[in-house]
Formats: sequence, C-alpha cells, structure tokens
Amino acid sequence: MSDRKGILTTDAGDLELPVIEPTTGNAGLDIRKLRGTLGYVTFDPGFANTANTRSALTFVNGAAGELRHRGYRIEDLAGNCTFLEVAYLLLFGDLPTAEQLDEWTTEIKTHTLLSEEMKRFFDAFPRSAHPMAILSSATNAISTFYEEYYNPSDPDAVGESAKRLIAKMPTIAAWAYKKSIGQPYVYPRNDLTYVENFLHMMFALPVEDLKIDPVVAKALNVLLILHADHGQNCSTATVRAVGSSQANLFASVAAGMNALWGPLHGGANQAVIEMLQNILDDPDADVASVVARAKDPDDPFRLMGFGHRVYKNYDPRAKVLRRFAHDVLERTSGKDPMLEIAQQLEDVALNDPYFQERKLFPNVDFYSGIIFRALGFPPRMFTVLFAIGRLPGWIANWKEMTEDPDTRIMRPRQVYVGPVEREFVPLDQR
Ligand code: CMC
Repeated sequence: MSDRKGILTTDAGDLELPVIEPTTGNAGLDIRKLRGTLGYVTFDPGFANTANTRSALTFVNGAAGELRHRGYRIEDLAGNCTFLEVAYLLLFGDLPTAEQLDEWTTEIKTHTLLSEEMKRFFDAFPRSAHPMAILSSATNAISTFYEEYYNPSDPDAVGESAKRLIAKMPTIAAWAYKKSIGQPYVYPRNDLTYVENFLHMMFALPVEDLKIDPVVAKALNVLLILHADHGQNCSTATVRAVGSSQANLFASVAAGMNALWGPLHGGANQAVIEMLQNILDDPDADVASVVARAKDPDDPFRLMGFGHRVYKNYDPRAKVLRRFAHDVLERTSGKDPMLEIAQQLEDVALNDPYFQERKLFPNVDFYSGIIFRALGFPPRMFTVLFAIGRLPGWIANWKEMTEDPDTRIMRPRQVYVGPVEREFVPLDQR
C-alpha cells in the first residue's frame, strides 16, 4: 500500500483517496469509495482519465512516444523476434527460451485447420461481404466447436482456447479473402512459419503453389508485432468488458474485432489508403485541400492515420513503419506515388499550427496500409491484418482480467439528465 494519498474536497465532504502506485507512468487515485461515501460519481467520457485496471502487459509513454511490452522496447521486439515469440511474451510474461518457443510454435501449428463444416459457413456470405464481418462472425462460430473450453476460470480451457484462436485466425482471415475473390480455400501448411503459412493461404492456388518472398514474410512479421498490444485501447477494453461478464474467450475476442473495425480505431488503416487514393484520383483534391478540410471545424472529416488518445508525440510504431515503408517498397513494388503523397501530407500537417497545437502526429495506421498494399493485400483486408496482430494482446488482457481479484463486471455509472418523472398518457389521448 502506498503512503501517498489524494484528498478530494466536495460540498458533500472530503474523501481521502488511496494511491495505486505504478512501476512507471501515471499513478491512480482509487475512487472506489466515492459514490458510497459522498454520493458523487466521476464524469469522464471516453475514460480518458480513468484506469479500469492495473496491468503488467504494456506501457505506453504518450509524451515521449515510447511503447514497451512486459518491459521490452517495441523497436527491439520488432527487430529481433517472431510474432509468435512476442505472443508468448504477452501471454506468459517472459520471452521464451529456444525450447519453449519451439514447443509453443509446434502447439500453434497443430491447430491451424478449421473444421470442414466451417467451409459452409464461409460459403453462406455474399461475395461482397467485408472480411472484418466474416472474421468476427467466424471467431464466434468456431466457439461452437469448443464448448468444453468456455469456462473462464479453468486455466487449461483458457490455454486451449487461446492456442486455437491464435492458430486458426490466419486461416479464417485467408478464407474470408478467398471467399471475397471467388477462389478456392487453401489449406494451412504446417511446415511453414506462422507468417509464411498465412501468405500461402492468402495467395496460393490449388493449381499453383506460391513461392514465398522472404522480404514479404519478414515485413508481415514486423507488422504483426507492431500491432500486438497497446494497453486499454477501444477493442481491448471491449474484450475486457465482454469478458467481465464471464463470457468465453471466443465471444470476447469476436466483440473486440467489431470494436477494432471502426474507422477511428483499426479501420483507420483502410481509411488512410482510401484518403490517399482519393488525393491521387480526384483532380480537385490535393494535400493542401485535405489538410484544410481536416482543420475545418464545420467539416467532420479528419486526417486519417493522424492523432492518438495517448501519444502526444510521434507514435513509435509509425516511426518504425515510416522507415520500413521505404525498404519494403524498394524491394517489392518499387516507387509508390502513394508513399510520396503520404510523406507530403505528413510534412504539411507536422508544420501546421493546428496539428502542432493539438499534438497530432502520424499513428500506426498512417504507414501500415502502404506497406500492406505493397505486400499484395487489398485495402479491405488491412483491418483484418491488424486483428491478427492484436489477437495476443486481446487474449493476454482477457487472461489478466480473469486472474485479477479486483475484476468486477464492467458496469459504468452515468449522470442522468432526462425527465425526472412524467404522468403516463394513454395512446388515444396523445
Ligand atoms: N484530424 C484532424 N483533427 C483531429 C484529428 C485528425 N486526425 N484527430 C484529432 N483532431 C483534433 C480534434 O478535432 C480535436 O480538436 P479540437 O480540440 O479543436 O476540438 C483535438 O484534435 C483532440 O481530438 P480528440 O477527438 O479529442 O482526440 P481523441 O483522443 O478523442 O481521439 C483519435 C483520438 C485517434 C480517435 C483521433 O485523433 C482521430 O479521429 N484520428 C483519426 C482516426 C485514426 O487515425 N485512428 C487511428 C488511431 S491509432 C491506432 C488505433 O487505435 O487503431
């Protein structure tokens, strides 16, 4: 228990607030006794100042633009690890030894297949279905095969669910894509790495095998790591909210995917490319006009891929991706006019007082789409790729929540501002 405390002074009296000490970053004022003692609730739309939990997973220093998982800098993890290694770190707390990694990778590989019955599930969607809709539906649907793993307080059941989710997500994602282009589903190959196998299922054909480009595989590995976790973001908070009702892991993750889909969150990567494409295609749109629109208070348009609730500095993931975009493009598609437009947009925005005053910098979604595109993924798959990357973070947060004795069902309060009480008027008299 900390010696520090806060004192809240109100017209209803004072309250001593214990301090929850962090290892680094913001300390927390414990307001759990506030409503019961003084009759007040706190008002904090979007929970911008509210910690819902203690977490030992990910630390984001928004002012300095730093991101660490379990204490390791994101730059080190992205530069040296495989995605499954980072998933292990998030889920189990430490980087694996070579033996542990080997065992973990083998375990994941043994669960990559989907039940044959799932094929009919994919078939039932229209060709035009957005792959994010299929991804979250299929995540819920595969839970029907694993009812014996629903119990959130059974660690073995949770472990089995986690492995299956991580193993099957690339298969679901690739099949959602194959469905959308009318090609046959390609089965997983367990002799390949996690990332290579995903590329194989995405781009191979039964009639023609795919020669996997190591540059593409390496780039995708880095991209997945950069998306692996990010504190209490909207989708992770959703996974925790759903899980707090003791819903199973599959159901909680499927809900998180739906939260991720929105354009203010993971859907921004698709929106960025559409915005850049529009600048290239529309003779009336250019960098200056797009920036002017983003600044116009009467226009709801925002510069997609810019701004962040926590980062008030350059997002370290975007920094890695900015450098990486050049390397990848050089070795894949060559020069990309879209990257040039993106850089112009960044330069104009970063030198504009509107963006400077509000501390709006490029976020992870600004450059990721350009790289995904160079790797051969269509824009509608971008948020799906984000979801595959974020999956270990969702699961690790869900596990941390279920193991935390302070967890209670997520149930925020409100300040009611509607009519106090009204006389009921029968229908024929209204
Ligand atoms: N373009 C123009 N103005 C912006 C932008 C933007 N992208 N982002 C924020 N602002 C302005 C906003 O209008 C407000 O101005 P004012 O103070 O004059 O009202 C100020 O900056 C603060 O913005 P906010 O909406 O209070 O910030 P927030 O923390 O609630 O929202 C955000 C964060 C990420 C939703 C927002 O910056 C945004 O909409 N960005 C574009 C969408 C995007 O790129 N999302 C990806 C986020 S990062 C990865 C992820 O989570 O998936």
